[in-house]
Amino acid sequence: MGNDKSGMHGVWGSRLTFILAATGSAVGLGNIWKFPYIIGENGGGAFVLMYLLCILATGIPVMMAEILLGRRARMSPIHTMKKMVQEEHAPKIFKSVGWMGAASGFLILSFYTVIAGWMIAYIGKMISGDFTGADRAISNAQFSSFLADPLMMSVYHTIFVVMAMGVVARGIHKGLEDGVRMMMPMLFFMLVLLFGYALTTPGFSAGWDFMFKVDFSKITTDSVVVALGHSFFTLSLGMGAIMAYGSYMPKQASLGKTVMIVATLDTMVAVVAGLIIFPIVFSYGLAPDSGPGLLFQTLPIAFGALPGGAIIGALFFTLVLIAAWSSAISIAEPAVAWAVEKGFSRAKASLCVGVLAWLLGFGSILSFSDWGQYQTWVTETHWQEEQMVHSEFHLFANVETLKANAPEGVAVQVKGKTFFDTVDALTANIMMPLGGIMIAFFVGWFMRREVIAYEARIKSTAFLKLWLFVLRYISPLAVASIFVSALM
Ligand code: PHE
Repeated sequence: MGNDKSGMHGVWGSRLTFILAATGSAVGLGNIWKFPYIIGENGGGAFVLMYLLCILATGIPVMMAEILLGRRARMSPIHTMKKMVQEEHAPKIFKSVGWMGAASGFLILSFYTVIAGWMIAYIGKMISGDFTGADRAISNAQFSSFLADPLMMSVYHTIFVVMAMGVVARGIHKGLEDGVRMMMPMLFFMLVLLFGYALTTPGFSAGWDFMFKVDFSKITTDSVVVALGHSFFTLSLGMGAIMAYGSYMPKQASLGKTVMIVATLDTMVAVVAGLIIFPIVFSYGLAPDSGPGLLFQTLPIAFGALPGGAIIGALFFTLVLIAAWSSAISIAEPAVAWAVEKGFSRAKASLCVGVLAWLLGFGSILSFSDWGQYQTWVTETHWQEEQMVHSEFHLFANVETLKANAPEGVAVQVKGKTFFDTVDALTANIMMPLGGIMIAFFVGWFMRREVIAYEARIKSTAFLKLWLFVLRYISPLAVASIFVSALM
């Protein structure tokens, strides 16, 4: 963030710029890459409904609270929480929100940059015409061979880390404002275009039903946790990104309207992405639950079938890359802003954060190949003639060895999380909701009403009251009950 003329903490040019920047942060891989594959893994419509409820009950109110805190203190999240705790005489534990946020930022950035690297790889693959006329077999083979090459993946990862930290180092005004202003509308246009294509595919109604037919028998506590976690991830909440952006938001802009716009745009992009991907899944006989590769296994087939598909495909992956870029910048912002306040130059702070996240990223890169068998939260179940004979939990294990060591005649089922899965679940499903619930609690229970009313600039008292009610009771209760049921 560049400084404004008075040399103080900078402020966005206008409310529109804030909306663009916050949308830039929110709309990213979470919407286009992650949302569709977790819908697929969690059974469709009921999961989508849970996710939408989480956006309403926790996402929107917490986003308002987070921006409010940042805008009041006008500092990095770590210092914002410190200052607000003092100002409102709140328990010291709330200071941990800032620290935990910066830590989640590192963790998220480390795998986010890896997946963004996949987009770069696919721009190249599209241009080279690898997918012209491709069917399911070709797109799967292409993706598997890509996963099996950690060296190439590291190259793309490195390129993206440099891209992202380069912008962060220059400051958000110079680096971000102009880019976001142009590229967001292009991405929306592209999604509409692809949606038009999806409409013409034979699997459209199957895809539509999969996303919107609610079947609660498909929902497990795990999927509810994933839906909740994703509502935080997709809106960039609970880790300070939006708080940091809020600290640059002009005072006079109304909180409620701004947040509604950002959340609506974010949700629309996610839902449209699903409505593009699932019709293709069902038209070409792909598996909805193929995991993180879903986007890469489906869309190339569609591009391969379209006239000029190589160009359209390359353009699409470029736009997703840009969406990821504008998100990655905000993921790094809490840690970088803190280091800058501690006296580092922006360039040095960005370099340090970038190098750390880059190093950690190798854990995720290798998760898709050489380290795939080392997993955490492993449950090992032995079956004999359809009967469960033995079940064991390992915090960390080599799943290949577990499978190999099974006695003869026993079928083993091993379920665990790779390094990548672990970092993803730890941040999205635990750290972000925890940070978010603490923010809701802090604003709802510890901040003075006059301060909230003054900072929020919400004209309607009914809306203000509703928001505070949800923040005090509904959001914390929803998150807590989901956590508790997951633990049991
Ligand atoms: N919201 C971003 C996305 O959906 C990811 C993100 C997470 C950005 C956390 C900032 C902070 O891709």
